Amino acid sequence: MSERTISLVDHRYAASVPKVPAVAPAAGSVVLDRLGRPLHDLRISVTDRCNFRCKYCMPKEIFDTQYEFLRHDELLRFEEIERVARAFVELGVRKLRITGGEPLLRRGLEDLVGMLSRLRGADGSPVELTMTTNASALARKARALRDAGLHRVTVSLDAIDDEVFRRMNDVDFPVATVLEGIRAAQEAGLAPVKVNMVVQRGVNDQQVLPMIEHFRGSGVVLRFIEYMDVGTTNGWRMDQVVPAAELLERIGSRHGLRPLDPTVVGETAERWMLDDGSLEIGLISSVTRAFCHDCNRARLSMEGKLYLCLFAAHGHDLRALLRGDTARGIDAVDDQALRGAIAQVWNARADRYSELRGQGASEPGGSAPRRVEMSYIGG
Ligand code: GTP
Ligand code: 5AD
Ligand code: SF4
Ligand code: SF4
Repeated sequence: MSERTISLVDHRYAASVPKVPAVAPAAGSVVLDRLGRPLHDLRISVTDRCNFRCKYCMPKEIFDTQYEFLRHDELLRFEEIERVARAFVELGVRKLRITGGEPLLRRGLEDLVGMLSRLRGADGSPVELTMTTNASALARKARALRDAGLHRVTVSLDAIDDEVFRRMNDVDFPVATVLEGIRAAQEAGLAPVKVNMVVQRGVNDQQVLPMIEHFRGSGVVLRFIEYMDVGTTNGWRMDQVVPAAELLERIGSRHGLRPLDPTVVGETAERWMLDDGSLEIGLISSVTRAFCHDCNRARLSMEGKLYLCLFAAHGHDLRALLRGDTARGIDAVDDQALRGAIAQVWNARADRYSELRGQGASEPGGSAPRRVEMSYIGG
């Protein structure tokens, strides 16, 4: 197979079609990027739609009735997602996360869960299968998702006070329904359920201690995330970030805390336990203490573009390789060639946006075009 690179400017984000090397690494090979980081985690976004309009993610002014979401035929079909995921698993991925937008809006998602849950590593080992959701439809779907083979869920929840929560999701969605979803997930055995709260100063930082009170003794793992400068639509400002160190101090002034050891290399959260053992707390300090040095995550968008960093402005169009495109002179590739193309993209990776920003680089993304949004790439 010949080498080629075809630059394309997509209608929404820049992407190019990856080169297909003549020889692909064998299934089971370990692939490393330019900073020596292995591939471990693939996040698969299945839709660009969401029924919430969280102001920091999908502000109503932009994601309104005029906004052009992708057409159904532009989305990867489940069989295509499975093919890509299999190639990643053959290259060492051990964790798959289904995300969105809001993944439960994608019709028949249980079928995809079933397909992904049957994937096995080159040594026959199963792959961890998780999902990030706003839980608005989880009460109805938890059992079916579990039966289809999902292992656990992470629920995004930014406040426990109903009024604050309704204001933040900006569609007047009640917190009680999300809490029902969390309970249903626990009852279905999608455990441990993790709850992610993005903390924004002056918006919901007063909710940190009430969230702890609410989830004590519930079995949920509660994680606080520093508000990040992802995308370009949310008007991010540093003064809205509550540094993890400040959060720790605030929590520590009310509760005794003991540190927990990391569970895996490249973990995003620093883990703590309330000293009575009633709640595990995670602090995700993506802004003030970047964790790029062992970042092992790749992201697949709903239309089949591969992004190697949350802050990427440039994607790799795998859909073109899956489907081929005669008009553009692109042949559809077989599984081995797909694996080779992905390995080559990962080998060339040197992203470490958050570390560079922390060192004062003004725009580590360089002069590249528009950066991807969180609703497109799913965190
Ligand atoms: P589990 O602990 O296994 O559930 O996975 P995880 O820690 O990868 O969790 P999750 O996907 O819930 O990520 C939590 C949050 O951390 C995301 O919503 C992002 O805000 C942030 N995050 C995750 N991955 C990255 C990353 O690669 N870079 C940065 N800067 N932030 C990340
Ligand atoms: N900073 C940090 N986390 C974010 N998320 C979305 N936007 C941001 C941001 N700017 C989180 C959501 C959800 C996950 C998909 O990403 O709250 O938990
Ligand atoms: Fe939807 Fe999650 Fe974005 Fe909120 S943060 S708009 S729930 S994708
Ligand atoms: Fe990984 Fe990019 Fe996040 Fe750094 S900023 S941890 S390289 S996704």
